[in-house]
Amino acid sequence: MMMNTVNATKTNSLEQDKSVNSEHTQFTSQNVDQKPSTSFVSQFDTQASAKKTPKSTNVKLSTSDVHVYYGESEAIKGIDLNIYENEVIAFIGPSGCGKSTFLRTLNRMNDTIDSCHVTGKVLLDNQDIYDPNLDVVLLRAQVGMVFQKPNPFPKSIFDNVAYGPKLHGLARDKYDLEEIVENSLNKAGLWNEVKDRLSQPGTGLSGGQQQRLCIARTIAVSPEVILMDEPCSALDPIATAKIEELISELSTQYTIAIVTHSMQQAARVSDRTAYFHLGDLIEVNATEKVFTQPDHQLTEAYITGRFG
Ligand SMILES: Nc1ncnc2c1ncn2[C@@H]1O[C@H](COP(=O)(O)OP(=O)(O)OP(=O)(O)O)[C@@H](O)[C@H]1O
Ligand SMILES: [Mg+2]
Repeated sequence: MMMNTVNATKTNSLEQDKSVNSEHTQFTSQNVDQKPSTSFVSQFDTQASAKKTPKSTNVKLSTSDVHVYYGESEAIKGIDLNIYENEVIAFIGPSGCGKSTFLRTLNRMNDTIDSCHVTGKVLLDNQDIYDPNLDVVLLRAQVGMVFQKPNPFPKSIFDNVAYGPKLHGLARDKYDLEEIVENSLNKAGLWNEVKDRLSQPGTGLSGGQQQRLCIARTIAVSPEVILMDEPCSALDPIATAKIEELISELSTQYTIAIVTHSMQQAARVSDRTAYFHLGDLIEVNATEKVFTQPDHQLTEAYITGRFG
């Protein structure tokens, strides 16, 4: 089976990965007693991530021995990671460590960068997404992406959201399309703010609204996975809070991988956190564990602010 193949090729991060997922509650038991909590615990509202119901053990996305090169330069150095259905996984780490690059391997967004070359395997529901026969447009609907900078199309608010469903033939008729648009805007928490101006340009919205529009656009094609690359970095605290709330709501339906520079945000929204360092995946564990008792000293140095 796939897990076995992956396990055979990698030891450290995946071992931890596996143990976390075989027993989601592990950090409430023996480990807590063995190691006194360190002083930085209180900085993070890890209670928020304890709200989560136990997540599925079904692997949604799996990478094995993924390397990414820009020309000769290796940005990702062999990463094995399983992402489980309906979990929110946060990618953290210092600038330039490869978080965005790795995230982009999960829906082949790196294909759009000429110098970029990916090796290894990425499976979505056990299907190789780098299969040359794969329909990449469909893949990017299944694995949608929200970027750091909101990037609405130069179209109306309505058409921004309707674009994907039209492209993929998801609406039976005009009314169905209107319903998809309304539902998506509703789920993205934007409907009330835009329902009277649907024909106005998406680019005329505020930054936070534009980001929610982009989330609505992603949701409109019924994705299974949503990738988010620092989705709040251009937003004020109120808009950020809205997006975070949204992520929690969306996680009941979708699998979400989010890159963030805010450790508080990772603690608030994610079930598991993966720490990246110079192109390597150093540690992936339950978020509460990463922020209270990280396994690796590089992780600890980063979260306590000694590095990065
Ligand atoms: N389009 C590109 N062409 C060449 N090199 C790139 C490109 N994009 C990223 N890199 C390099 O790959 C490495 C990883 O970059 P990446 O953007 O993935 O890091 P990151 O962890 O997302 O950083 P940040 O937190 O600053 O967004 C860096 O050394 C970067 O300079
Ligand atoms: Mg980045």
